Amino acid sequence: MTEKKILLNDAYSLKTPEDSISLYKKWAPTYDRDFAKSSNYISPLKITDFFLKNCQIFDTPILDVGAGTGLIGEYLNKKKDKKIIGIDISSEMLSEAELKNCYSSLLKVDITKKIPLRNNSIGAVVSAGTFTHGHVGPQAFDELLRITKPKGLFVVSIKKEIFIKEGFKEKLLSIKNDITLPELNIFNIYGKNNDKKKENDKAYAVIFRKK
Ligand SMILES: C[S@@+](CC[C@H](N)C(=O)[O-])C[C@H]1O[C@@H](n2cnc3c(N)ncnc32)[C@H](O)[C@@H]1O
Repeated sequence: MTEKKILLNDAYSLKTPEDSISLYKKWAPTYDRDFAKSSNYISPLKITDFFLKNCQIFDTPILDVGAGTGLIGEYLNKKKDKKIIGIDISSEMLSEAELKNCYSSLLKVDITKKIPLRNNSIGAVVSAGTFTHGHVGPQAFDELLRITKPKGLFVVSIKKEIFIKEGFKEKLLSIKNDITLPELNIFNIYGKNNDKKKENDKAYAVIFRKK
């Protein structure tokens, strides 16, 4: 019997971290080919570009939040000269990321809970596709700020439709004394592809530094 193909709507209908674990367990082996390549998913590439335009030599180590199969690592660490830690709730997605040999470590972490990393230990936070429908909400920024060094850089994608609706704008306002003024860059999540509906899918690359 053939398995039903996983669609983007399945990912957008998730409600709890347990739902993510179960969906991404099934999706991990085919995610790169059946989703990322076939839909021309370019968020990881965009976040990498924004990171490279804004980063300084001291922005290390880099934490990839919701690293998944490691698409950011693949783009960002082509020369294998960066220290990137990947965290994700799905061990199956992390196993795919490991095959890419771009991460210095990969940790199974639920970022809606306490993150098992020291205060002020991370030089930069990057993330693509994790702050989206049914995945991770704005509360995760408290823990991410705790583990980031003063002056640490954040370059994270937040799906446009949920930016206000799910409280990301409000969260950024509530932490405004702890961060520089966030820069919001809108971008298309997908490049040219056959699915017209996806053409309007947009996210913000939200860029700021911890004070
Ligand atoms: C759409 S994928 C994006 C993966 C990768 N960043 C990319 O752009 O291809 C979302 C990822 O978020 C992870 N995720 C969902 N909820 C999470 C949580 N509570 N803590 C950590 N990771 C989570 C999923 O396991 C999945 O790998």
